[in-house]
Amino acid sequence: MPVVDGRVTVRSGGGDYPVVIGAGLRHVLPSILAEHAPAHRYAVISDDRVAPLYAAPLVEGLEGAGVRADLFVFPHGEASKNRDEWARLTDAMLSAGHGRDSVVIAVGGGVTGDLAGFVASTYQRGIPVVQVPTSLVAMIDASVGGKTGLDVPAGKNLVGAFHPPRVVVADPETILTLPPFERGQGLVEAMKHGAILDDAYLRELVADSGRLLQGEVAAVTRAVSRSVSLKAGVVTEDEREAGYREILNFGHTLGHAIEAASALRVPHGSAVAAGMVLEARLGERVGVTESGSAETLLQSLRALGPDIIPPIPCPSDRIASFLSADKKARKGSPRFVLLRAPGEVCSDGAWSRELPMDTVETVLRTEWPTAG
Ligand SMILES: NC(=O)c1ccc[n+]([C@@H]2O[C@H](COP(=O)([O-])OP(=O)(O)OC[C@H]3O[C@@H](n4cnc5c(N)ncnc54)[C@H](O)[C@@H]3O)[C@@H](O)[C@H]2O)c1
Ligand SMILES: [Zn+2]
Repeated sequence: MPVVDGRVTVRSGGGDYPVVIGAGLRHVLPSILAEHAPAHRYAVISDDRVAPLYAAPLVEGLEGAGVRADLFVFPHGEASKNRDEWARLTDAMLSAGHGRDSVVIAVGGGVTGDLAGFVASTYQRGIPVVQVPTSLVAMIDASVGGKTGLDVPAGKNLVGAFHPPRVVVADPETILTLPPFERGQGLVEAMKHGAILDDAYLRELVADSGRLLQGEVAAVTRAVSRSVSLKAGVVTEDEREAGYREILNFGHTLGHAIEAASALRVPHGSAVAAGMVLEARLGERVGVTESGSAETLLQSLRALGPDIIPPIPCPSDRIASFLSADKKARKGSPRFVLLRAPGEVCSDGAWSRELPMDTVETVLRTEWPTAG
């Protein structure tokens, strides 16, 4: 019988929900669903890579327990997180006769969680969703906090809704089938949690990096439990991103600009890894961040592989121009979350601050962390 290794409660305006973490929990999902999200019928949504591994067995398990369940599958990848796929899944559920008493179960990575969560949030004005994350990004980040949504031509995640799940069930054994590259990308976000909130956790991740990259279940369980409780603490305090939740954006102001400037050739985790080091250098330059912090982050991130931080993907002024585009959109200068030191964010009245564009440009031009 699988054991629950970690249990974290997220407080939410839409109703508190538990995140349960434990090796093998996927085998007892029907009883967890019966307790936290009982329904006559379930709509299980998954991508075509994860469906045969984890979603089809879940449907079988539910039907074996005498519960009706249908599987809806979409092509894997970020390109599916769009309005067309939302419409196709919604129409398929309508044709299959799902009603307001159905519950959506999202089984997969962050793309599945965001897309299926948004389908649930809009289906007949909203039906419950259960998140069953199977990637590290989804377990430690996307499944906690209630954000769901889609990408549109104007940008990523620009259409969406807050739709907190009834329960999140994370089975760290599923990370064994996750491609190693995806493990490294997800661990960057875990290191971000350490960098902003818990220096000891950051050091633990470095010490465990070999085991984590191999998907060792005990190490993954520890990291998922720690990251989930750190993120849950933040979103419990500020569910709707009125202030404190902003600290989760550490590394992301520059990270998003790097992703966009490289036309998404630099994957999200790597862009954020570079962003964290550069934003720490920025903080050092303006005298807010303890000197040596950027170097500590760089060495920590390199434990995830020498190429976790890519060579500069395009001229630094191109990256800067994407920051300016962001700035125009927000009618102000780009805002940065700055560290006081690894494990601690700086809060002088606000969780982020504007910095002069020329300082940012200088850091981009002169401080890009090179490989090795
Ligand atoms: N809602 C939020 O708060 C939030 C937070 C962070 C990220 N996100 C979103 O999450 C998405 C990225 O998530 P992701 O990295 O998980 O991407 P993803 O869902 O595309 O998963 C990555 C790849 O791994 C495969 N996969 C997932 N689990 C697997 C498993 N156990 N075994 C084998 N293959 C598996 C998927 O099929 C996919 O090909 C982005 O769209 C991002 O915007 C959302
Ligand atoms: Zn991120």
